[in-house]
Amino acid sequence: MNDAAIGIFDSGMGGLTVLRALMARLPNENFIYLGDTARLPYGTKSPETIIRYSVQAAGALVKRRIKLLVVACNTASSVAIPYLREAFAPLPVIDVITPGAEAALAASPKGPIAVIATEATVNGRAYVRAIRAHAADVGVVQQACPLFVPLAEEGLIEGPIAELVAHRYLDPLMAQKPHALVLGCTHYPALKNTISKVVGHEVTLVDSAATTALSVEKMLRKAETMREGEQSYSFLVTDLAERFARVGKIFLGRAIPMDLVEPIDL
Ligand code: DGL
Repeated sequence: MNDAAIGIFDSGMGGLTVLRALMARLPNENFIYLGDTARLPYGTKSPETIIRYSVQAAGALVKRRIKLLVVACNTASSVAIPYLREAFAPLPVIDVITPGAEAALAASPKGPIAVIATEATVNGRAYVRAIRAHAADVGVVQQACPLFVPLAEEGLIEGPIAELVAHRYLDPLMAQKPHALVLGCTHYPALKNTISKVVGHEVTLVDSAATTALSVEKMLRKAETMREGEQSYSFLVTDLAERFARVGKIFLGRAIPMDLVEPIDL
């Protein structure tokens, strides 16, 4: 048993979908979530900048004594994982790409698989590598959907604007006839209904939040570091704490009381 918290970070509030899945799966753990709202988006930045920001965000969580780090940001997961593992060894670090790739293959073992993500994740091809590591012949098609992030943050997750943008990004991708579509960015699950409407219900949408939570549970069990007691959670944000609490509710699926939100500088 280890009483320390599980640290989670994302560039903003999208990673709250991962926290939500973790809280549902692990009812006895403490969670500290860091949203780097001052520097969002990571998805349009260079790999060097994303690595620097990620190491700083993880460092702030490590200072608060965590037993495991979840990188709940696909962009950071796609470029910064080796650097985080090295900087904070022996802290276990879990990314969202590996569980997402495994979930996609479970949904569509023969492919083709479509991946939508930020520009940095698409350019880094982390999902393509993770899928092909298990199934070398599976076809993978990718599409960056940068406008989905501000749409989700504005709460414009359904209706004509969201659908127009979704058609623009997804129609060319659907011409490749994928059987599964990976929501490879933490913000995209908020637009799930619209995406599903546009691609059709026969395409399985893969959201890595639940599979990531399962990986965390497995790792805690293996290391015998599960906690007993009541669940607790708190938040660190680098800007706009009030907005984080207000909009974050959409992603977390429950209210975020302001007394649990601490503004910090990185
Ligand atoms: N959290 C990022 C991701 O999952 C999306 C937002 C951003 O670009 O920072 O890729």
